[in-house]
Amino acid sequence: MPVNSPQTPPEWTTYYHLRYTVLRQPWQQPEGSERADDDDDATTTHALLLAPEGYATGVGRLHPSGPAQGQIRFMAVHPAWQARGVGRQVLEYLEAAARQQGLTELVLHAREAAVPFYERMGYTVEAPSHTLFGSIPHFLMRKALV
Ligand SMILES: CC(C)(COP(=O)(O)OP(=O)(O)OC[C@H]1O[C@@H](n2cnc3c(N)ncnc32)[C@H](O)[C@@H]1OP(=O)(O)O)[C@@H](O)C(=O)NCCC(=O)NCCS
Repeated sequence: MPVNSPQTPPEWTTYYHLRYTVLRQPWQQPEGSERADDDDDATTTHALLLAPEGYATGVGRLHPSGPAQGQIRFMAVHPAWQARGVGRQVLEYLEAAARQQGLTELVLHAREAAVPFYERMGYTVEAPSHTLFGSIPHFLMRKALV
């Protein structure tokens, strides 16, 4: 199945459900904490890869964060689908969208465990950034889109 933006109500439901179960639930965060105020902005691009059964295997999003700059957030792959190329497909979809929007660089705040994935995808660590939920160090990473 190709990566697409969620369209139908069931697609939006499984999109946010995966975001919650991978990025919030393991740290006992309440339902709803996976949503961001700018999720519904027209300039925010959402990426969803579905399993044949219709549930989300991978999600991620892109929003403009400066002149010609975009930021990747909320990348999450279903545990049963990790290390099978799903994250790559989702990120490449968002990078293609960024290029189409005329963006020339992307930034993101990577969880420490995800840094090797982003390095493999061409991103470079710039500096340590925030610590999420008091326990997850993040690193600011950057990639020039050529
Ligand atoms: C991080 C995450 C998004 C990566 O997605 P994924 O589907 O597991 O990664 P992929 O299988 O698409 O990997 C893409 C490439 O990165 C490489 N890679 C992925 N994780 C890696 C690691 N820990 N160390 C080294 N290389 C890694 C893969 O080998 C692959 O390389 P290849 O295409 O040359 O074979 C996913 O594992 C995940 O959701 N993790 C938990 C939540 C999380 O940390 N999200 C990110 C928040 S910033």
